[in-house]
Amino acid sequence: MHTPIKLALAAVAAAAALSTSAQNAPQSAPQKAPLKVGLMLPNTGTFAALGDNIEKGFRLYVNEQGGKLAGREIQYFKVDDESDPAKATDNVNKLIKRDQVDVLVGTVHSGVALAMARAAKESNTLLIVPNAGADAITGAQCAPNIFRSSFSNWQPGYATGVVAAQKGYKRAMTITWNYAAGNETVKGFTESFEKGGGKVVKDLSLPFPNVEFQALLTEIAAQKPDVVFAFFAGGGAVKFVKDYDAAGLRKTVPLMGSGFLTDGTLEAQGAAAQGLITTLHYADDIDTPRNNAFRKGFALAYKANADVYAVQGYDAAQLLGAGLTAVGGDFTKRPEMLYAMGKTVIGSPRGKFGMSTSRNPVQDFYIREAKGNYNVVTGVAVKALADPGRGCKS
Ligand code: PHB
Repeated sequence: MHTPIKLALAAVAAAAALSTSAQNAPQSAPQKAPLKVGLMLPNTGTFAALGDNIEKGFRLYVNEQGGKLAGREIQYFKVDDESDPAKATDNVNKLIKRDQVDVLVGTVHSGVALAMARAAKESNTLLIVPNAGADAITGAQCAPNIFRSSFSNWQPGYATGVVAAQKGYKRAMTITWNYAAGNETVKGFTESFEKGGGKVVKDLSLPFPNVEFQALLTEIAAQKPDVVFAFFAGGGAVKFVKDYDAAGLRKTVPLMGSGFLTDGTLEAQGAAAQGLITTLHYADDIDTPRNNAFRKGFALAYKANADVYAVQGYDAAQLLGAGLTAVGGDFTKRPEMLYAMGKTVIGSPRGKFGMSTSRNPVQDFYIREAKGNYNVVTGVAVKALADPGRGCKS
């Protein structure tokens, strides 16, 4: 008969034997836990399609690597941020505190992203921003654990101002939503346009995400500037470009914009967008093996055309992959991983790019023309444009 104590001892011995054999297991079968990626993107509202393509791009790269980055399986957690800054802190805390994600990826809207960056900084969670351009994220609010795979608002605004001045326009009006992205993009445009000899005579705006443009279009028609510079994106950009055309303005006052005005929106804008000139860090027909393979992969996976948002999501995954690879998938080696992410050169569909010292892409800005359903390259506005990173001290 076994006594209870003998049974207990036998169990301890069996457990010890098991754990010894586990320790001696060959190194070739590591059992690393999945890496938890929190996607905070808009699934509803005027930016819903943008969020969707960012996620598709991110997943495409991970899937191309067999569902793993540096040997770590990727587990996704998702929150719809609705592009609503008022809900942003609660939403990001669902990912940080409830789901305890390792990495945050998000978002589209600058105001929401600023709240994400604050929460990421406080909790020291790695954050990769795959769109929102809020200048402070890689400026005054920068942090070693915050990277961007997209752009700063200043960048496309500045690049468009260079082109508008080169075209010889002298008097410009600007129009946008009154929030960080609109205001900062207009500021970038004004800086280079006025440096190039032009003058911004009036800034027009309406609250995000309103689309009642009529009164503002009437004012443009009355003032007759040489050019209008616009920042809108997503559903709002579709409506704006159609309204601008319907008001008869396209033939009398040239419309320019950062490329978000016509990216991912051309199918819906149709004839109203044809011939519009924009600048952006991507164009559909960049004829490189990298871009061609990316677009083919995207089209096969999703039966849809890639756009700048898909590229930025794809490159967010590439950036994370580069960091993880440098530490053999060991996410606890944080300083080494962040260092590698800052130094890596991303083989992006947009062309190769590296990070500025404040961790924002240093990249070429293309001049594009809307033709059919594509934004085609007609030149380069500024090569290797780096955000000045104003106020970034870490
Ligand atoms: C932003 O809010 O930063 C933003 C949103 C949509 C874009 C670009 C920037 O297409």
